[in-house]
Amino acid sequence: MSDIAKLQIGEKTYEFPLVKGTENETAIDIKALRGATDGVITIDPGYKNTGSCQSAITFLDGEKGILRYRGYSIEELAEKADFLEVAYLLIFGELPTKEQLDKFYADILDEAIVDDDIKKIIDAFPKNAHPMGVLSSLTSALTAFNPSSVNVDSEEDMYKAIVKIMGKFPVLVAWTLRKKQGLPLHYGSRKLGYVENILTMMFQKPNDEYELNPIMINALDKLLILHADHEQNCSTSTVRIVGSSHAGLFASLSAGISALWGPLHGGANQAVLEMLEAIKEDGGDTKKYMGKAKDKEDPFRLMGFGHRVYKNFDPRAKIIKKAADEVLGDLGVEDPILDVAKGLEREALEDQYFVDRKLYPNVDFYSGIIYRAMGIPVEMFTVMFALGRLPGWIAQWREMRLRKEPIGRPRQVYVGENLREFVEIDKR
Ligand code: ACO
Repeated sequence: MSDIAKLQIGEKTYEFPLVKGTENETAIDIKALRGATDGVITIDPGYKNTGSCQSAITFLDGEKGILRYRGYSIEELAEKADFLEVAYLLIFGELPTKEQLDKFYADILDEAIVDDDIKKIIDAFPKNAHPMGVLSSLTSALTAFNPSSVNVDSEEDMYKAIVKIMGKFPVLVAWTLRKKQGLPLHYGSRKLGYVENILTMMFQKPNDEYELNPIMINALDKLLILHADHEQNCSTSTVRIVGSSHAGLFASLSAGISALWGPLHGGANQAVLEMLEAIKEDGGDTKKYMGKAKDKEDPFRLMGFGHRVYKNFDPRAKIIKKAADEVLGDLGVEDPILDVAKGLEREALEDQYFVDRKLYPNVDFYSGIIYRAMGIPVEMFTVMFALGRLPGWIAQWREMRLRKEPIGRPRQVYVGENLREFVEIDKR
């Protein structure tokens, strides 16, 4: 293939270089388009054909169902690594040595304290506030309590901001849950590992010890790894674009959390469980809901199905389905919701509508079932997703800053009124 793309507009032909990725993905580099053509731009709503950056963090092939972080397959990482190792890998590019990992965790623990005044902000929220709104607000508020983390121009400053948020974020997540449950807030313990600390901060009762269950640690580790990055999805693109104005890491993450909240993105895990419960309540008639999902007059969609990029299968869904079976078995939980989910999946995989549109279960079809078995309330599911996605967002933000990417500012094709005369209010 030639490494030039030709574009003809009217009589004129323009040439643009092709850019090749390390996995042979090809893009047309149109940086010079507008200047060369007297103002012609491209339009691509939803960015289905637009690469916003070059990135060395995550590779995914939607057709083949491949997902790799920094070149390592998601299957191998989920089996052999722990979440903190994966976080280090995503952010800094290589698997850490034991010393590097120990230092990273020690630095995180040094920052795992949240200013006590943040409690006043938490107290001001009503108990029924959605945890994603609370988390986004608290993450943004961290900027005010840690102003030195805003203008980070050197790698050293970036590192400090990164360990700060890696330390404080799990505390905020746990506090969001505890506030909802009316429990006193908890700071965790330096003696525990990253994921063990998360579970303890979330679940320890004030009058009891918390016994860590290896099945729960393993399940949460796996879920967090599977959610840790997914290249330029909606929330990650948000983090990169907000960060591109040099708004600071915490403000960028807060925006990413808001983007993740939506039911078409991370909010799907909550929506899936609510849907499965509704189907069960309605007598478990999965065929009825399949019909609704296919009816164009009905706004109902089968939550947890379909993906912008995966048009074959979501490799994370395979791992999670197996994990759901294991965790429920190990914890001795019998959940009829799992049967509804399996029935729905079976039917969808054989249904022409879903086959034609290449709609497969995505990562969040089964994750909620595991979270539920772990005793995590449904409204917290998307917060758990954010906890897993944190290192991915950080890695993408860091890469964007190190590459000195320009501020993100798309253009538009204006389709509104042409110039018209102002009409006084009494004459309208
Ligand atoms: N149920 C029923 N029909 C669906 C579904 C679904 N879940 N998803 C897509 N379709 C149909 C659409 O109606 C459309 O049909 P048409 O061609 O006849 O008009 C076709 O499949 C293509 O769908 P689009 O919405 O154009 O696909 P897009 O790539 O824009 O959307 C998305 C992907 C948002 C994930 C979509 O599949 C969806 O809404 N799924 C349910 C929500 C969900 O599970 N989101 C989580 C995504 S994973 C994540 O963020 C971690």
